[in-house]
Amino acid sequence: MDYPFEPFKIKSVEPIYFTTREEREKILKDAGYNLFFVKSKYITVDLLTDSGTGSMSQFQWAAMMKGDESYAGASSFDRFEEAVRKYTGKKIVIPTHQGRAAEKIISHVIFSGEGGKIAVSNTFFDTTRANFQYGGAKLFDLPSPESRDIFSDKMFKGNIDLERLEYLLKKEGQKIKLITMTVTNNTAGGQPVSIENIKAVRNLADKYGVLLHIDACRVSENSYFVKKYESGYADKSIADIVRETLSFADIVTMSAKKDGLVNIGGYIATDDEDLALKFKEMLILWEGFPTYGGLAGRDLDAIAVGLMESLDEDYLEYRISQVRYLGEGFKQAGIPVLWPTGGHAVYVEAARFLPHIKRENFPGQALVVALYLEGGIRTAEIGSLMFGRDTDVEHEFVRFAIPRRVYTRSHLDFVIDVMKNLSDGKAKIRGLEIEYEPPFLRHFLVRMRPVE
Ligand code: F0G
Repeated sequence: MDYPFEPFKIKSVEPIYFTTREEREKILKDAGYNLFFVKSKYITVDLLTDSGTGSMSQFQWAAMMKGDESYAGASSFDRFEEAVRKYTGKKIVIPTHQGRAAEKIISHVIFSGEGGKIAVSNTFFDTTRANFQYGGAKLFDLPSPESRDIFSDKMFKGNIDLERLEYLLKKEGQKIKLITMTVTNNTAGGQPVSIENIKAVRNLADKYGVLLHIDACRVSENSYFVKKYESGYADKSIADIVRETLSFADIVTMSAKKDGLVNIGGYIATDDEDLALKFKEMLILWEGFPTYGGLAGRDLDAIAVGLMESLDEDYLEYRISQVRYLGEGFKQAGIPVLWPTGGHAVYVEAARFLPHIKRENFPGQALVVALYLEGGIRTAEIGSLMFGRDTDVEHEFVRFAIPRRVYTRSHLDFVIDVMKNLSDGKAKIRGLEIEYEPPFLRHFLVRMRPVE
């Protein structure tokens, strides 16, 4: 498969360092087989996350020089507010230092007061899940039935299951306080969500008096899929599709580290003045004054420019095709990949790839470790290690997340070659067991060892 070449030239470069297999063996052992503990200088291609790892444009770097670092009323905030209003269509804009800070604030305001304590989602991302649970909520994931068939060609596998949603709304009534639509649906493979699905959720939210929250980290990428694959959107601009998507939400949170094309930042946006006031009260406690919210003025300026750049169709065409290129490469080599590829990453189903490794020995993490050992590639497990303690995990995914505007096709070809090599010798890959795990978000701090 072909994809449009990078719609940019490289002006500033960062070296990649190479390690030997022997070095990587020792590094893995020292890191307790947890790739979060490996220093980036020992990574050849870093596909751990697409979050905060992108390259900024010359326009963003230039905008940073305009950063106004006044504690209150900075002009950087005005530029940020204007851009977020334009992007989301919401009136009230509250900066936070990243997505989970926004989640913590809304969780506290929504679940600590009177009323329902249940939240449902197409699938909660791990930080959203942890923050809402910490805030006292009981959570239900209701991914669409199509998402179960991970190899079919169906589009919009990120949707919520509307039938199950209505069933739960009827059954639990007032106990349900919030519906979260994660767009794109990261945990379900970065799969897009259709506007038709979000619209139907809005109707149910109105019918049952529930708040609708959109986790909009990757809504520009989602809008590209809507334009391309949802009927009636081919002639609309990405900017209009983003605004239409978010028009259905009462509360928007966004980690700008994804489609904001920056290395740090986030926000809450809403039209609800009462909620906004409560959010701001907690913001001051945890993040800072509402005109900076845990960020430097220059960060706000970089986000203002980055959000607009993420709406560029040439960029999105290249971005989504790059992800697909990696997925195609794996698929052609007979590696089980979640299909179609989503917006920001390729997901390999490790339980199928390594059928000799039992679920309790974490086939996903075993593949993560093998990829590092073989090629110095860092990926992330999204399976039993990440979620196994809280939920029934259907798939053992390994996520190859592609940082924005960072790697070229030759880097991806290298990753495809490493996967092919692993595929040839996969019987030798061993499972893992846990030595230590923390009470929340265990994959970040876990220490493991190979099983004999
Ligand atoms: N929501 C989604 C869907 C995310 O993917 C993330 C982060 C967050 C919220 C939290 O944002 O990191 O700025 O606090 N996802 C990263 C990832 C970490 O690797 O997928 P944050």
